[in-house]
Amino acid sequence: MTLLKVENLTKRFKKNGETVTAVNEISFSVEAGECLGIVGESGCGKSTAANLISRLQREDEGNIFFEGRKINGGFRLKPVGRELQMIFQNPQDSFDPRDTVLQGIMQGALSYKVYSNRELKEKALDLFSYVGLKPEYQNKKTSELSGGECQRAAVARALICEPKLLICDEATSALDVLVQAQLIDLLKKLKNDKKMAMIFITHDLPLAAAFCDRIAVMHKGRIIEIGEARKVLKSPEQEETKKLIQAVLPVR
Ligand SMILES: Nc1ncnc2c1ncn2[C@@H]1O[C@H](COP(=O)(O)OP(=O)(O)OP(=O)(O)O)[C@@H](O)[C@H]1O
Ligand SMILES: [Mg+2]
Repeated sequence: MTLLKVENLTKRFKKNGETVTAVNEISFSVEAGECLGIVGESGCGKSTAANLISRLQREDEGNIFFEGRKINGGFRLKPVGRELQMIFQNPQDSFDPRDTVLQGIMQGALSYKVYSNRELKEKALDLFSYVGLKPEYQNKKTSELSGGECQRAAVARALICEPKLLICDEATSALDVLVQAQLIDLLKKLKNDKKMAMIFITHDLPLAAAFCDRIAVMHKGRIIEIGEARKVLKSPEQEETKKLIQAVLPVR
C-alpha cells in the first residue's frame, strides 16, 4: 500500500534578489513500512522537501498525498496530523527547555486530544524504556539531557503520536559515532517491530545504504537517481552519486 505520494513538488525561495529553486519537480512515493533514504550534498533541497511534506512550508507547485488523501493546497498551511511526525538534526529545538522530559514527550500528542492526560502519561512512561531513557529522567529538564538522550526523547515524542510515517532529517548527524550507532539501532527497532515507514535524510550515503530499503539522490533540487539502496551504492548511474560515495571512502 502506498502511504505517501509526492508529485512534481517544487519550492522556490527569494535569496538576495535571486530566485533559488530549492526543490525542483520531485516525484516519489513511500510504501507502508518502507524506509526511503534521501541523500545529497548540503543545499540540494533535502530539508526543504521534508518541510514541504510535513507541511512546515508551503510548496509553489505539486501535490502531496498521504494514504491517498491530498494534504496540500487550500488557503491555510495545515499540519498533517499525528500520523506524520518529524525528528530534526538538533533535538533541543523540538523541546521547550523549561519542560521536564516527561512533559516534553507528552507535548507531542497533547494537541491531538486523542488521549486523556493520564493515558498520555502512561504511554510516555512506557516509551521511556522503549527508547532507552532511564525512568528517573522524567523530572529532569529537557535542557539537561545530552544530545543522544535528547534525540531519544525526540523519538519518544514522535512515537507517542503513533505515526505511520517518521521523517528523520539528519537526526543522527550531530551525534558522535558511537551515539549515532545507538540511535540507528533504535530506529531499526522501530522499523522492525512497529513496521514504521520512514524518510531518512542524510548526506551520508553509506549510512543510508545500510539503513534504507531505497535511496533517492538529490542534486540541485532534483531527484537524479532513485532505486534499491544497495544497488545505488554499488552501481550508481549518475556522476553526482559517484562523487557522494567517493567523498566518504577512506583516504588511502
Ligand atoms: N527559508 C529559506 N530562504 C531562502 N533560501 C532557502 C531557505 N531554505 C532553504 N533555502 C535554500 O534552498 C536550498 C536548499 O536548502 P535545504 O536546506 O533544503 O538543503 P539541504 O539539502 O537540507 O542542506 P543540508 O544538507 O545543509 O541540510 C539552499 O540553496 C538553501 O540556501
Ligand atoms: Mg538540511
